[in-house]
Amino acid sequence: MVTFRVIPGGRLSGNCAVPGDKSISHRSIMLGSLAEGTSHIRGFLEGEDALATLNAFRAMGVEISGPENGQVIVSGVGMHGLRAPRESIYLGNSGTSMRLLAGLLAGQAFDTQLTGDESLSRRPMERVAGPLRQMGARIEARPGGLPPLAIAGGQVLKGIRYDMPMASAQVKSCVLLAGLYARGVTTVTEPAPTRDHTERMLAGFGYTVTRRGATVELEGGGKLVACDIDVPADISSAAFFMVAASIAPGSDITLPHVGINPTRTGVIDILRLMGANISLDNPREVGGEPVADIRVRHAPLSGIDIPQHLVPLAIDEFPVLFVAAACARGRTVLSGAEELRVKESDRIQVMADGLSALGIEAVSRPDGIEIHGGTLAGGRVVSHGDHRIAMAFSVAGLRASEDIVIEDCANVATSFPGFLQIAGDCGLRVSLEQE
Ligand code: S3P
Repeated sequence: MVTFRVIPGGRLSGNCAVPGDKSISHRSIMLGSLAEGTSHIRGFLEGEDALATLNAFRAMGVEISGPENGQVIVSGVGMHGLRAPRESIYLGNSGTSMRLLAGLLAGQAFDTQLTGDESLSRRPMERVAGPLRQMGARIEARPGGLPPLAIAGGQVLKGIRYDMPMASAQVKSCVLLAGLYARGVTTVTEPAPTRDHTERMLAGFGYTVTRRGATVELEGGGKLVACDIDVPADISSAAFFMVAASIAPGSDITLPHVGINPTRTGVIDILRLMGANISLDNPREVGGEPVADIRVRHAPLSGIDIPQHLVPLAIDEFPVLFVAAACARGRTVLSGAEELRVKESDRIQVMADGLSALGIEAVSRPDGIEIHGGTLAGGRVVSHGDHRIAMAFSVAGLRASEDIVIEDCANVATSFPGFLQIAGDCGLRVSLEQE
């Protein structure tokens, strides 16, 4: 059991370099493995989730060297070069690995089984199994559509038109990756914009992807050509420090080289609506993804009604945005965010419970939460093994009156290796609790 203790107070200053983007890291291994030729990746996230994807492709016969200081070299085997793994593929905590791999593996000649840890084993997989079956895949889950997944190889897939019932980049990406192996054209339409790293990276690997409004389309049977990938810093990891600097008086930090893909920047928009002082300096494009240095200075925040269209664009940042809301003047209301209940934990309930334990009025609703800004006391909270909950409460300590103890923090390493060190260097007072 890993427990964090946060000493109250502090302010942030200096440069705060956070690790590589998780979503882009996963996709760089997947597409690099299926490409013809050798792909060089820089800035790869050496967190457990992305490493789960890397190990999965190693288990399917792909030669991958690294990661070493974020550098990975993938010797692509081509679209049909993967080999059957010797045993079932364990994906730890990583929903992205399981959902994207399901699509890819549905098109292979061999059978596979995908398993995960306790949290992943509770996450819904019917959302990918359903459309894959429509394409002709044979895929079985536990009752309720839960992992493990058993995927039968050797099926003939056909392209479909899929209208996604929820805004999910994982479902979209899963169907598109299966579409690479399908006969004809695969078309996915999303109810609201979601992260588009798969589409951008497919194009970077030379695959034709057509985008028209909310629809993305590709034709199966093409090939991927190796390329070099520069993974920007993860805006989802930067978000903890964006909120931290906003709520801690006297703070002024710069987060260098952060990905600011417009399908990911909801956190910036929401914080600015609350009054945050955020500037994007030196904007540039790196390997098909927009990047900037993000400067954040302390500013008093006010509660807001979070606009619906920003919800999918900030979907991973809500735990720490709720901490911002707890430190803001007035009431913040989030709705239309039922997806938060099926993340690594039920992020609505777990955050409502934790904030309430710290003396904040936080009322959960089926599809969101209402938070009344106030004074954070100290206390004990439980992250339920959810990395982003653990890091969100680490940030809350900046404005708490007493220590905050956070239980069950081991999974911080899934998305943010070195969090305690980087946080400490920037001014957060969070450390491992000595038993
Ligand atoms: C991800 C998509 C999001 C996000 C997850 C990573 C991706 O999930 O929450 O952390 O890399 O495609 P959904 O698409 O299910 O919302």
